[in-house]
Amino acid sequence: MSIRKRTRLGLVVAVAGINAALLLGCAGGQPKERSAEETELAGTAGQAPGKAPPLPKAGPLANPRSLQQVGLPVDLTRAVAPPDNPQTPEKIALGQKLFFDGRLSADGTVACATCHDPARAFTDGRPTSVGIHGRKGERNSPTILNALYNKAQFWDGRAKTLEEQAALPIVNPVEMGQPSQDAAVAAIAGIDEYQQAFRRVFGRSANGPDLLRAIASYERAQPSFASPFDHFIAGDKNAIDDSARRGWELFNTKARCNKCHALTEKKRDVTNFIDNDFHNIGIGIIRHNVAALAVQAEKLLDSGDQAAVDRAAIQTDLSALGRFLITKKEADTASFKTPNLRNLLLTGPYFHDGSQETLWDVMDHYNKGDGLANAWLDEDIQPLALTEPEIDDCVAFLTSLTSPDYREAAARELERQRALSRTSRPQRDTKRAFGPKPPRPKPRRP
Ligand code: HEC
Ligand code: HEC
Repeated sequence: MSIRKRTRLGLVVAVAGINAALLLGCAGGQPKERSAEETELAGTAGQAPGKAPPLPKAGPLANPRSLQQVGLPVDLTRAVAPPDNPQTPEKIALGQKLFFDGRLSADGTVACATCHDPARAFTDGRPTSVGIHGRKGERNSPTILNALYNKAQFWDGRAKTLEEQAALPIVNPVEMGQPSQDAAVAAIAGIDEYQQAFRRVFGRSANGPDLLRAIASYERAQPSFASPFDHFIAGDKNAIDDSARRGWELFNTKARCNKCHALTEKKRDVTNFIDNDFHNIGIGIIRHNVAALAVQAEKLLDSGDQAAVDRAAIQTDLSALGRFLITKKEADTASFKTPNLRNLLLTGPYFHDGSQETLWDVMDHYNKGDGLANAWLDEDIQPLALTEPEIDDCVAFLTSLTSPDYREAAARELERQRALSRTSRPQRDTKRAFGPKPPRPKPRRP
Protein backbone atom coordinates (compact mmCIF):
# COMPACT_ATOMS: atom_id res chain seq x y z
CA MET A 1 0.00 0.00 0.00
CA SER A 2 1.40 3.38 -0.96
CA ILE A 3 2.24 6.08 1.56
CA ARG A 4 -0.21 8.43 -0.09
CA LYS A 5 -3.06 6.04 0.29
CA ARG A 6 -2.14 5.42 3.90
CA THR A 7 -2.36 9.11 4.66
CA ARG A 8 -5.61 9.40 2.82
CA LEU A 9 -6.89 6.47 4.81
CA GLY A 10 -5.83 8.16 8.01
CA LEU A 11 -8.07 11.10 7.16
CA VAL A 12 -10.94 8.91 6.17
CA VAL A 13 -10.61 7.02 9.40
CA ALA A 14 -11.01 10.19 11.42
CA VAL A 15 -14.35 10.73 9.69
CA ALA A 16 -15.30 7.11 10.06
CA GLY A 17 -14.46 7.15 13.77
CA ILE A 18 -18.04 6.56 14.85
CA ASN A 19 -18.26 3.62 12.57
CA ALA A 20 -15.06 2.13 13.98
CA ALA A 21 -16.36 2.66 17.50
CA LEU A 22 -19.53 0.82 16.58
CA LEU A 23 -17.53 -1.94 15.04
CA LEU A 24 -15.46 -2.61 18.09
CA GLY A 25 -17.81 -1.37 20.75
CA CYS A 26 -15.39 1.25 22.05
CA ALA A 27 -14.45 4.80 21.27
CA GLY A 28 -10.79 4.35 22.29
CA GLY A 29 -7.88 3.54 19.93
CA GLN A 30 -8.48 3.59 16.21
CA PRO A 31 -7.89 0.53 14.18
CA LYS A 32 -8.20 1.83 10.65
CA GLU A 33 -11.49 0.87 9.18
CA ARG A 34 -12.30 1.81 5.64
CA SER A 35 -15.44 3.88 5.31
CA ALA A 36 -17.97 2.70 2.75
CA GLU A 37 -16.80 5.49 0.44
CA GLU A 38 -13.17 4.48 0.78
CA THR A 39 -13.77 0.81 0.17
CA GLU A 40 -15.90 1.59 -2.86
CA LEU A 41 -13.18 3.74 -4.37
CA ALA A 42 -10.39 1.34 -3.70
CA GLY A 43 -8.92 -0.90 -6.38
CA THR A 44 -11.95 -2.22 -8.22
CA ALA A 45 -10.20 -2.16 -11.57
CA GLY A 46 -12.26 -3.03 -14.61
CA GLN A 47 -15.54 -2.71 -12.83
CA ALA A 48 -18.23 -0.07 -12.35
CA PRO A 49 -17.61 2.05 -9.23
CA GLY A 50 -19.96 1.25 -6.38
CA LYS A 51 -20.98 -2.06 -7.94
CA ALA A 52 -20.18 -5.61 -6.94
CA PRO A 53 -18.14 -7.66 -9.42
CA PRO A 54 -20.29 -9.64 -11.87
CA LEU A 55 -21.78 -12.84 -10.52
CA PRO A 56 -20.28 -15.89 -12.25
CA LYS A 57 -22.64 -18.48 -13.72
CA ALA A 58 -22.61 -22.04 -12.45
CA GLY A 59 -20.98 -23.84 -15.40
CA PRO A 60 -19.82 -27.47 -15.48
CA LEU A 61 -16.92 -26.70 -13.14
CA ALA A 62 -19.46 -25.90 -10.41
CA ASN A 63 -20.82 -29.44 -10.28
CA PRO A 64 -20.03 -31.83 -7.45
CA ARG A 65 -16.78 -33.69 -8.04
CA SER A 66 -16.25 -37.43 -8.27
CA LEU A 67 -14.99 -39.43 -5.31
CA GLN A 68 -13.10 -41.59 -7.78
CA GLN A 69 -10.08 -39.40 -8.36
CA VAL A 70 -6.52 -40.68 -8.26
CA GLY A 71 -5.00 -39.51 -4.97
CA LEU A 72 -8.31 -38.74 -3.23
CA PRO A 73 -8.23 -39.89 0.41
CA VAL A 74 -11.47 -41.90 0.44
CA ASP A 75 -11.77 -42.60 4.17
CA LEU A 76 -10.89 -39.06 5.17
CA THR A 77 -13.39 -37.66 2.68
CA ARG A 78 -16.16 -39.78 4.19
CA ALA A 79 -15.11 -38.91 7.73
CA VAL A 80 -15.25 -35.13 7.40
CA ALA A 81 -19.03 -34.81 7.03
CA PRO A 82 -20.43 -34.19 10.54
CA PRO A 83 -22.98 -36.75 11.86
CA ASP A 84 -25.78 -34.16 11.87
CA ASN A 85 -25.17 -33.21 8.24
CA PRO A 86 -24.67 -36.29 6.09
CA GLN A 87 -24.07 -35.83 2.36
CA THR A 88 -27.05 -36.47 0.06
CA PRO A 89 -27.31 -35.59 -3.65
CA GLU A 90 -30.44 -33.45 -3.07
CA LYS A 91 -28.80 -31.50 -0.27
CA ILE A 92 -25.68 -30.90 -2.36
CA ALA A 93 -27.86 -29.66 -5.24
CA LEU A 94 -29.70 -27.27 -2.92
CA GLY A 95 -26.36 -26.01 -1.59
CA GLN A 96 -25.11 -25.47 -5.13
CA LYS A 97 -28.15 -23.33 -5.95
CA LEU A 98 -27.66 -21.25 -2.82
CA PHE A 99 -23.93 -20.85 -3.46
CA PHE A 100 -24.70 -19.06 -6.74
CA ASP A 101 -27.74 -17.12 -5.59
CA GLY A 102 -27.22 -13.35 -5.26
CA ARG A 103 -30.52 -13.05 -3.46
CA LEU A 104 -28.76 -14.12 -0.25
CA SER A 105 -27.05 -10.69 -0.24
CA ALA A 106 -28.60 -7.41 0.90
CA ASP A 107 -29.13 -6.00 -2.61
CA GLY A 108 -29.27 -9.19 -4.64
CA THR A 109 -25.88 -8.68 -6.32
CA VAL A 110 -23.42 -10.86 -4.40
CA ALA A 111 -23.29 -14.62 -3.95
CA CYS A 112 -20.66 -16.90 -2.47
CA ALA A 113 -19.59 -17.53 -6.08
CA THR A 114 -18.77 -13.84 -6.59
CA CYS A 115 -15.55 -14.43 -4.67
CA HIS A 116 -15.38 -18.19 -5.14
CA ASP A 117 -15.74 -18.61 -8.91
CA PRO A 118 -15.48 -22.25 -10.08
CA ALA A 119 -13.76 -21.11 -13.30
CA ARG A 120 -10.94 -19.76 -11.08
CA ALA A 121 -10.83 -22.84 -8.85
CA PHE A 122 -13.32 -21.12 -6.54
CA THR A 123 -11.27 -17.96 -5.96
CA ASP A 124 -11.63 -14.46 -7.45
CA GLY A 125 -8.16 -13.75 -8.84
CA ARG A 126 -7.88 -10.49 -6.87
CA PRO A 127 -5.33 -9.62 -4.19
CA THR A 128 -8.21 -9.03 -1.78
CA SER A 129 -11.91 -9.63 -2.32
CA VAL A 130 -14.56 -7.17 -3.47
CA GLY A 131 -18.16 -7.52 -2.30
CA ILE A 132 -21.42 -5.61 -2.13
CA HIS A 133 -21.35 -2.05 -3.61
CA GLY A 134 -17.81 -2.75 -4.79
CA ARG A 135 -16.46 -2.69 -1.24
CA LYS A 136 -12.98 -4.06 -0.81
CA GLY A 137 -11.84 -6.31 2.03
CA GLU A 138 -8.41 -6.94 3.53
CA ARG A 139 -7.99 -10.62 2.69
CA ASN A 140 -7.42 -12.86 -0.29
CA SER A 141 -10.17 -15.31 -1.17
CA PRO A 142 -9.04 -18.90 -0.56
CA THR A 143 -10.27 -21.78 -2.71
CA ILE A 144 -13.27 -23.90 -1.73
CA LEU A 145 -11.67 -26.92 -3.42
CA ASN A 146 -10.49 -29.29 -0.67
CA ALA A 147 -11.63 -26.88 2.06
CA LEU A 148 -13.56 -29.89 3.37
CA TYR A 149 -10.27 -31.19 4.79
CA ASN A 150 -9.43 -28.04 6.78
CA LYS A 151 -9.55 -28.46 10.56
CA ALA A 152 -10.34 -24.75 10.78
CA GLN A 153 -11.69 -22.28 8.21
CA PHE A 154 -10.40 -18.81 7.29
CA TRP A 155 -6.78 -17.70 7.17
CA ASP A 156 -6.87 -17.26 10.95
CA GLY A 157 -9.05 -20.31 11.67
CA ARG A 158 -11.82 -18.30 13.33
CA ALA A 159 -14.50 -20.79 12.19
CA LYS A 160 -14.25 -24.50 12.98
CA THR A 161 -16.64 -25.96 10.45
CA LEU A 162 -17.88 -25.11 6.97
CA GLU A 163 -21.35 -24.59 8.45
CA GLU A 164 -20.01 -22.05 10.95
CA GLN A 165 -17.94 -20.38 8.23
CA ALA A 166 -20.82 -19.86 5.77
CA ALA A 167 -22.77 -17.75 8.27
CA LEU A 168 -20.16 -14.98 8.38
CA PRO A 169 -19.89 -13.60 4.79
CA ILE A 170 -23.70 -13.33 4.60
CA VAL A 171 -23.73 -10.67 7.32
CA ASN A 172 -20.34 -9.06 6.73
CA PRO A 173 -20.94 -5.45 5.58
CA VAL A 174 -18.36 -5.57 2.77
CA GLU A 175 -19.21 -9.09 1.55
CA MET A 176 -22.93 -9.90 1.26
CA GLY A 177 -24.11 -7.15 3.61
CA GLN A 178 -27.25 -8.67 5.14
CA PRO A 179 -28.36 -7.13 8.45
CA SER A 180 -28.95 -10.65 9.81
CA GLN A 181 -29.02 -14.30 8.83
CA ASP A 182 -32.80 -14.21 9.13
CA ALA A 183 -32.92 -11.50 6.47
CA ALA A 184 -31.05 -13.82 4.09
CA VAL A 185 -33.43 -16.67 4.86
CA ALA A 186 -36.42 -14.39 4.34
CA ALA A 187 -35.08 -13.38 0.93
CA ILE A 188 -35.30 -16.94 -0.38
CA ALA A 189 -37.88 -18.67 1.85
CA GLY A 190 -40.85 -17.56 -0.24
CA ILE A 191 -39.44 -18.79 -3.55
CA ASP A 192 -41.33 -21.85 -4.72
CA GLU A 193 -38.30 -23.82 -5.82
CA TYR A 194 -36.57 -23.31 -2.46
CA GLN A 195 -39.72 -24.05 -0.46
CA GLN A 196 -39.94 -27.42 -2.13
CA ALA A 197 -36.24 -28.16 -1.93
CA PHE A 198 -35.97 -27.38 1.81
CA ARG A 199 -39.04 -29.54 2.51
CA ARG A 200 -37.63 -32.39 0.46
CA VAL A 201 -34.13 -32.26 1.96
CA PHE A 202 -34.78 -31.29 5.58
CA GLY A 203 -38.52 -31.94 6.01
CA ARG A 204 -39.20 -28.33 7.10
CA SER A 205 -39.34 -24.81 5.74
CA ALA A 206 -36.19 -22.79 5.05
CA ASN A 207 -34.23 -21.69 8.13
CA GLY A 208 -30.72 -20.47 8.92
CA PRO A 209 -29.05 -23.65 10.20
CA ASP A 210 -30.40 -25.75 7.30
CA LEU A 211 -29.31 -23.13 4.77
CA LEU A 212 -25.77 -23.32 6.17
CA ARG A 213 -25.90 -27.14 6.19
CA ALA A 214 -26.85 -27.24 2.51
CA ILE A 215 -24.06 -24.84 1.51
CA ALA A 216 -21.51 -26.79 3.58
CA SER A 217 -22.62 -30.06 1.94
CA TYR A 218 -22.06 -28.53 -1.47
CA GLU A 219 -18.56 -27.46 -0.43
CA ARG A 220 -17.85 -30.98 0.87
CA ALA A 221 -18.60 -32.21 -2.65
CA GLN A 222 -15.54 -30.33 -3.98
CA PRO A 223 -12.49 -32.55 -3.52
CA SER A 224 -9.87 -31.91 -6.22
CA PHE A 225 -7.12 -34.44 -7.00
CA ALA A 226 -6.08 -36.51 -10.06
CA SER A 227 -3.20 -34.13 -10.81
CA PRO A 228 -0.04 -35.29 -12.62
CA PHE A 229 1.58 -35.49 -9.16
CA ASP A 230 -1.17 -37.85 -7.92
CA HIS A 231 -0.54 -40.10 -10.94
CA PHE A 232 3.18 -39.98 -10.18
CA ILE A 233 2.59 -41.07 -6.58
CA ALA A 234 0.22 -43.78 -7.81
CA GLY A 235 3.12 -45.28 -9.75
CA ASP A 236 3.28 -43.56 -13.14
CA LYS A 237 6.86 -42.34 -12.88
CA ASN A 238 6.57 -40.30 -16.08
CA ALA A 239 3.48 -38.38 -15.03
CA ILE A 240 5.72 -35.49 -13.97
CA ASP A 241 9.02 -34.39 -15.50
CA ASP A 242 12.54 -34.47 -14.02
CA SER A 243 12.33 -30.89 -12.86
CA ALA A 244 9.11 -31.51 -10.88
CA ARG A 245 10.63 -34.68 -9.40
CA ARG A 246 13.66 -32.72 -8.22
CA GLY A 247 11.30 -30.06 -6.87
CA TRP A 248 9.43 -32.70 -4.81
CA GLU A 249 12.78 -33.80 -3.29
CA LEU A 250 13.74 -30.22 -2.51
CA PHE A 251 10.29 -29.59 -1.01
CA ASN A 252 11.01 -32.29 1.58
CA THR A 253 14.68 -31.48 2.17
CA LYS A 254 16.70 -28.34 1.45
CA ALA A 255 13.70 -26.06 0.76
CA ARG A 256 12.13 -27.10 4.10
CA CYS A 257 8.55 -26.72 2.82
CA ASN A 258 7.57 -29.97 4.57
CA LYS A 259 8.20 -28.30 7.94
CA CYS A 260 4.71 -26.84 7.55
CA HIS A 261 3.16 -28.16 4.34
CA ALA A 262 2.90 -31.75 5.64
CA LEU A 263 1.06 -33.40 8.51
CA THR A 264 4.36 -34.42 10.06
CA GLU A 265 7.91 -33.38 9.25
CA LYS A 266 9.16 -36.94 9.27
CA LYS A 267 6.64 -38.46 6.87
CA ARG A 268 6.07 -37.11 3.38
CA ASP A 269 2.54 -35.94 2.77
CA VAL A 270 1.03 -36.38 -0.67
CA THR A 271 -2.54 -35.30 0.04
CA ASN A 272 -3.22 -31.76 1.23
CA PHE A 273 0.18 -30.29 2.13
CA ILE A 274 -1.11 -28.76 5.35
CA ASP A 275 -0.26 -29.19 9.03
CA ASN A 276 -3.54 -27.82 10.42
CA ASP A 277 -1.51 -25.13 12.11
CA PHE A 278 -0.72 -21.42 11.98
CA HIS A 279 2.61 -19.71 11.39
CA ASN A 280 4.08 -16.26 11.01
CA ILE A 281 6.08 -16.46 7.81
CA GLY A 282 6.59 -12.71 7.51
CA ILE A 283 3.78 -11.74 5.14
CA GLY A 284 2.64 -8.13 5.38
CA ILE A 285 4.60 -7.59 8.54
CA ILE A 286 6.73 -4.78 7.12
CA ARG A 287 3.68 -2.80 6.06
CA HIS A 288 2.06 -2.86 9.47
CA ASN A 289 3.06 -1.92 12.98
CA VAL A 290 1.70 -5.16 14.36
CA ALA A 291 2.82 -4.55 17.92
CA ALA A 292 0.69 -1.41 18.08
CA LEU A 293 -2.21 -3.19 16.42
CA ALA A 294 -1.99 -6.02 18.94
CA VAL A 295 -2.35 -3.56 21.80
CA GLN A 296 -5.43 -2.11 20.11
CA ALA A 297 -6.95 -5.53 19.51
CA GLU A 298 -6.38 -6.50 23.12
CA LYS A 299 -8.21 -3.43 24.33
CA LEU A 300 -10.98 -3.33 21.76
CA LEU A 301 -11.83 -6.77 20.66
CA ASP A 302 -13.68 -9.56 22.47
CA SER A 303 -12.33 -12.68 20.78
CA GLY A 304 -15.47 -14.55 21.75
CA ASP A 305 -17.58 -12.27 19.54
CA GLN A 306 -17.18 -14.07 16.22
CA ALA A 307 -19.00 -11.45 14.15
CA ALA A 308 -16.82 -8.66 15.57
CA VAL A 309 -13.67 -10.66 14.89
CA ASP A 310 -14.94 -11.27 11.35
CA ARG A 311 -15.41 -7.56 10.73
CA ALA A 312 -12.00 -6.75 12.21
CA ALA A 313 -10.36 -9.38 9.99
CA ILE A 314 -12.11 -8.37 6.77
CA GLN A 315 -12.49 -4.61 7.22
CA THR A 316 -9.69 -3.20 9.37
CA ASP A 317 -5.92 -3.05 9.68
CA LEU A 318 -6.23 -5.48 12.60
CA SER A 319 -6.49 -8.08 9.82
CA ALA A 320 -2.69 -8.25 9.81
CA LEU A 321 -2.71 -9.78 13.31
CA GLY A 322 -4.01 -13.09 11.95
CA ARG A 323 -4.43 -15.83 14.55
CA PHE A 324 -3.78 -13.36 17.38
CA LEU A 325 -7.29 -11.95 16.85
CA ILE A 326 -8.69 -15.26 18.06
CA THR A 327 -6.20 -16.47 20.69
CA LYS A 328 -4.69 -13.16 21.91
CA LYS A 329 -1.47 -15.10 22.39
CA GLU A 330 1.60 -13.08 21.60
CA ALA A 331 3.22 -16.03 19.80
CA ASP A 332 0.31 -16.03 17.33
CA THR A 333 0.97 -12.46 16.23
CA ALA A 334 0.59 -12.19 12.45
CA SER A 335 0.40 -15.94 12.04
CA PHE A 336 -1.88 -17.49 9.44
CA LYS A 337 -3.13 -20.93 8.47
CA THR A 338 -0.92 -23.13 6.33
CA PRO A 339 -2.86 -23.36 3.05
CA ASN A 340 -3.36 -26.33 0.74
CA LEU A 341 -1.04 -26.15 -2.28
CA ARG A 342 -3.22 -27.69 -4.98
CA ASN A 343 -4.29 -25.80 -8.12
CA LEU A 344 -2.03 -22.86 -7.23
CA LEU A 345 -1.92 -21.62 -10.84
CA LEU A 346 -5.61 -20.83 -10.53
CA THR A 347 -5.61 -19.42 -7.00
CA GLY A 348 -3.14 -16.51 -7.21
CA PRO A 349 -2.23 -13.91 -6.18
CA TYR A 350 -0.72 -15.55 -3.14
CA PHE A 351 -0.79 -15.32 0.66
CA HIS A 352 -3.52 -14.02 2.97
CA ASP A 353 -3.20 -10.51 1.56
CA GLY A 354 -2.67 -11.52 -2.07
CA SER A 355 0.65 -9.69 -1.96
CA GLN A 356 2.65 -11.98 -4.29
CA GLU A 357 1.83 -12.36 -7.94
CA THR A 358 3.85 -15.37 -9.07
CA LEU A 359 5.13 -18.65 -7.66
CA TRP A 360 8.66 -17.30 -8.27
CA ASP A 361 7.84 -14.43 -5.92
CA VAL A 362 6.64 -16.95 -3.33
CA MET A 363 9.88 -18.92 -3.71
CA ASP A 364 11.98 -15.75 -3.47
CA HIS A 365 10.16 -14.86 -0.25
CA TYR A 366 10.99 -18.22 1.32
CA ASN A 367 14.52 -18.29 -0.09
CA LYS A 368 15.60 -15.14 1.72
CA GLY A 369 14.02 -16.39 4.96
CA ASP A 370 12.33 -13.09 5.56
CA GLY A 371 13.12 -12.22 9.15
CA LEU A 372 13.69 -8.51 9.13
CA ALA A 373 12.14 -6.70 12.07
CA ASN A 374 9.85 -9.63 12.77
CA ALA A 375 9.95 -10.83 16.35
CA TRP A 376 7.32 -13.51 15.78
CA LEU A 377 8.77 -15.16 12.70
CA ASP A 378 8.39 -18.95 12.75
CA GLU A 379 11.71 -20.58 13.57
CA ASP A 380 11.41 -22.81 10.52
CA ILE A 381 11.72 -19.80 8.22
CA GLN A 382 15.38 -19.22 7.42
CA PRO A 383 17.57 -18.44 4.39
CA LEU A 384 17.50 -21.46 2.07
CA ALA A 385 20.35 -20.80 -0.38
CA LEU A 386 18.31 -22.21 -3.26
CA THR A 387 19.88 -21.63 -6.67
CA GLU A 388 17.84 -20.40 -9.65
CA PRO A 389 17.53 -23.93 -11.15
CA GLU A 390 16.39 -25.20 -7.75
CA ILE A 391 13.75 -22.49 -7.55
CA ASP A 392 12.52 -23.47 -11.02
CA ASP A 393 12.33 -27.11 -9.85
CA CYS A 394 10.22 -26.17 -6.81
CA VAL A 395 7.86 -24.22 -9.07
CA ALA A 396 7.66 -27.20 -11.43
CA PHE A 397 6.64 -29.43 -8.52
CA LEU A 398 4.01 -26.96 -7.30
CA THR A 399 2.48 -26.69 -10.76
CA SER A 400 2.25 -30.50 -11.03
CA LEU A 401 -0.53 -30.27 -8.41
CA THR A 402 -3.07 -29.00 -10.96
CA SER A 403 -6.25 -31.07 -11.34
CA PRO A 404 -7.33 -31.99 -14.90
CA ASP A 405 -10.32 -29.60 -14.89
CA TYR A 406 -7.89 -26.70 -14.79
CA ARG A 407 -5.07 -28.01 -16.98
CA GLU A 408 -5.43 -25.51 -19.82
CA ALA A 409 -6.09 -22.43 -17.70
CA ALA A 410 -3.08 -23.42 -15.57
CA ALA A 411 -0.81 -23.79 -18.61
CA ARG A 412 -1.72 -20.25 -19.73
CA GLU A 413 -1.13 -18.84 -16.26
CA LEU A 414 2.21 -20.64 -15.97
CA GLU A 415 3.37 -18.99 -19.18
CA ARG A 416 2.19 -15.60 -17.92
CA GLN A 417 4.02 -16.04 -14.61
CA ARG A 418 7.16 -17.35 -16.30
CA ALA A 419 7.27 -14.37 -18.66
CA LEU A 420 6.70 -11.95 -15.80
CA SER A 421 9.37 -13.62 -13.65
CA ARG A 422 11.94 -13.00 -16.41
CA THR A 423 11.59 -9.23 -16.02
CA SER A 424 10.28 -8.82 -12.50
CA ARG A 425 11.46 -10.56 -9.32
CA PRO A 426 10.61 -7.99 -6.62
CA GLN A 427 11.23 -10.43 -3.74
CA ARG A 428 14.57 -11.79 -4.94
CA ASP A 429 17.41 -11.04 -2.53
CA THR A 430 20.29 -13.36 -3.35
CA LYS A 431 22.56 -11.92 -0.68
CA ARG A 432 20.14 -12.74 2.11
CA ALA A 433 19.20 -16.09 0.56
CA PHE A 434 22.85 -17.19 0.74
CA GLY A 435 23.63 -15.37 3.98
CA PRO A 436 23.40 -16.49 7.62
CA LYS A 437 20.14 -16.71 9.52
CA PRO A 438 19.65 -13.23 10.99
CA PRO A 439 19.06 -12.95 14.74
CA ARG A 440 15.42 -12.60 15.64
CA PRO A 441 14.64 -9.22 17.19
CA LYS A 442 12.99 -9.21 20.63
CA PRO A 443 9.28 -8.42 20.67
CA ARG A 444 8.74 -4.78 21.57
CA ARG A 445 5.41 -3.61 22.89
CA PRO A 446 4.62 0.10 22.64
C1 HEC B 1 -16.86 -10.62 -1.03
C2 HEC B 1 -16.16 -11.85 -1.24
C3 HEC B 1 -16.64 -13.12 -0.58
C4 HEC B 1 -17.91 -13.62 -0.52
C5 HEC B 1 -19.18 -13.03 -1.05
C6 HEC B 1 -17.80 -14.90 0.15
N1 HEC B 1 -16.51 -15.14 0.47
FE1 HEC B 1 -15.77 -16.83 1.28
N2 HEC B 1 -14.02 -15.91 1.61
C7 HEC B 1 -13.67 -14.67 1.14
C8 HEC B 1 -12.43 -14.26 1.75
C9 HEC B 1 -11.70 -12.95 1.49
C10 HEC B 1 -12.05 -15.29 2.61
C11 HEC B 1 -10.84 -15.29 3.55
C12 HEC B 1 -11.21 -14.43 4.75
C13 HEC B 1 -10.36 -14.67 5.97
O1 HEC B 1 -9.65 -15.65 6.02
O2 HEC B 1 -10.43 -13.85 6.88
C14 HEC B 1 -13.06 -16.33 2.48
C15 HEC B 1 -13.01 -17.56 3.13
C16 HEC B 1 -13.89 -18.60 2.88
C17 HEC B 1 -13.72 -19.97 3.32
C18 HEC B 1 -12.54 -20.51 4.10
C19 HEC B 1 -11.61 -21.33 3.25
C20 HEC B 1 -10.30 -21.64 3.92
O3 HEC B 1 -9.48 -22.33 3.31
O4 HEC B 1 -10.07 -21.21 5.05
C21 HEC B 1 -14.84 -20.66 2.90
C22 HEC B 1 -15.11 -22.13 3.09
C23 HEC B 1 -15.69 -19.71 2.23
N3 HEC B 1 -15.07 -18.48 2.21
C24 HEC B 1 -16.96 -19.98 1.73
C25 HEC B 1 -17.87 -18.98 1.41
C26 HEC B 1 -19.30 -19.18 1.33
C27 HEC B 1 -20.02 -20.47 1.58
C28 HEC B 1 -19.85 -17.97 0.99
C29 HEC B 1 -21.30 -17.61 0.81
C30 HEC B 1 -22.16 -17.85 1.94
C31 HEC B 1 -18.73 -17.04 0.84
N4 HEC B 1 -17.57 -17.68 1.13
C32 HEC B 1 -18.88 -15.72 0.44
C33 HEC B 1 -14.40 -13.91 0.25
C34 HEC B 1 -15.77 -14.07 0.07
C1 HEC C 1 6.98 -22.15 8.79
C2 HEC C 1 5.94 -22.79 8.03
C3 HEC C 1 6.02 -22.78 6.51
C4 HEC C 1 7.08 -23.15 5.71
C5 HEC C 1 8.45 -23.65 6.14
C6 HEC C 1 6.61 -23.01 4.35
N1 HEC C 1 5.34 -22.55 4.34
FE1 HEC C 1 4.25 -22.06 2.69
N2 HEC C 1 2.85 -21.21 3.88
C7 HEC C 1 2.81 -21.25 5.25
C8 HEC C 1 1.80 -20.37 5.75
C9 HEC C 1 1.43 -20.14 7.20
C10 HEC C 1 1.23 -19.74 4.61
C11 HEC C 1 0.17 -18.61 4.62
C12 HEC C 1 0.90 -17.35 5.08
C13 HEC C 1 0.18 -16.05 4.88
O1 HEC C 1 -0.60 -15.92 3.95
O2 HEC C 1 0.44 -15.13 5.68
C14 HEC C 1 1.90 -20.31 3.45
C15 HEC C 1 1.60 -20.00 2.14
C16 HEC C 1 2.17 -20.61 1.03
C17 HEC C 1 1.77 -20.40 -0.33
C18 HEC C 1 0.63 -19.48 -0.80
C19 HEC C 1 -0.61 -20.27 -1.04
C20 HEC C 1 -1.83 -19.44 -1.29
O3 HEC C 1 -2.87 -20.05 -1.54
O4 HEC C 1 -1.79 -18.21 -1.21
C21 HEC C 1 2.57 -21.18 -1.12
C22 HEC C 1 2.52 -21.30 -2.63
C23 HEC C 1 3.50 -21.85 -0.24
N3 HEC C 1 3.22 -21.48 1.06
C24 HEC C 1 4.50 -22.71 -0.64
C25 HEC C 1 5.57 -23.07 0.17
C26 HEC C 1 6.80 -23.63 -0.32
C27 HEC C 1 7.09 -23.98 -1.75
C28 HEC C 1 7.63 -23.77 0.76
C29 HEC C 1 9.06 -24.21 0.79
C30 HEC C 1 9.96 -23.39 0.00
C31 HEC C 1 6.88 -23.30 1.93
N4 HEC C 1 5.65 -22.89 1.52
C32 HEC C 1 7.39 -23.29 3.23
C33 HEC C 1 3.67 -21.98 6.04
C34 HEC C 1 4.93 -22.41 5.64
